[in-house]
Amino acid sequence: MSKDRIDKVLSHEGYGTRRDVKRLLHTAEVLVNGTRITDPGFHTDIDSDEISIDGEIISIAKNIYLMMNKPQDVVCANKDGLHATVFSMLDEQYQSGYALENLHLIGRLDIDTEGLLIFTTDGKLTHRLISPKSNCPKTYFVRLEKALTDNDKKDYSEKMDAGFEVPPEDNEDAFTCLPAKIEYTEKDDEVKLTIVEGKYHQVKRMFRALGNKVVYLKRVSMSGIKLDESLEPGEYRKLTQDEVNTLLSF
Ligand code: URA
Repeated sequence: MSKDRIDKVLSHEGYGTRRDVKRLLHTAEVLVNGTRITDPGFHTDIDSDEISIDGEIISIAKNIYLMMNKPQDVVCANKDGLHATVFSMLDEQYQSGYALENLHLIGRLDIDTEGLLIFTTDGKLTHRLISPKSNCPKTYFVRLEKALTDNDKKDYSEKMDAGFEVPPEDNEDAFTCLPAKIEYTEKDDEVKLTIVEGKYHQVKRMFRALGNKVVYLKRVSMSGIKLDESLEPGEYRKLTQDEVNTLLSF
């Protein structure tokens, strides 16, 4: 449960500056769960408290958290002249008002990548998770052009354990990737890769650096949240409270 000062909450809701709210607390009857509040520093839990002003219950715009199973051929941008955007796939309620202004993505996927995409209005959370220091793990299902021999697997594992040089691409510099975790599956051309960075085309560039090529890429989890496999590509749902708590605990 997250608590916030009532002056911050009401200011966020459009009741003016914190100074305006301080005045409002004296000029209007502001009740939290039926108790009159005049202290701007009073902490309220907008998930569970009922707040009313002069007898009218106000509904607080809570942060929005959504997961989408991103399809291919759709871009992670607000606008694109050529392709549909992931935002255009959301219902009207998420394309207007508060959501329109504040909904954004926690990390993007390439146009041809599928899988877990998280939308939120929670800027603080996003800032924390996309910071290079967050080391937030992201797991991808990867299909490779060349099936791996036992020797390749040994070589890939050693390199992933240590980190290795990834050449430049487009305008992006070369970099040494941090250690990553590769898991093999029963198919020799399919692996799972967990990375803690999010550099431009990172997964594709890592496999290219190893002499292979990614032919299909899908994000299956990030920051402890797993893609809900019952979502068809293009479908989305709200995160459950447990999932939100998992993200917030990162
Ligand atoms: N790495 C990539 O190369 N592409 C993505 O979309 C995500 C990670």
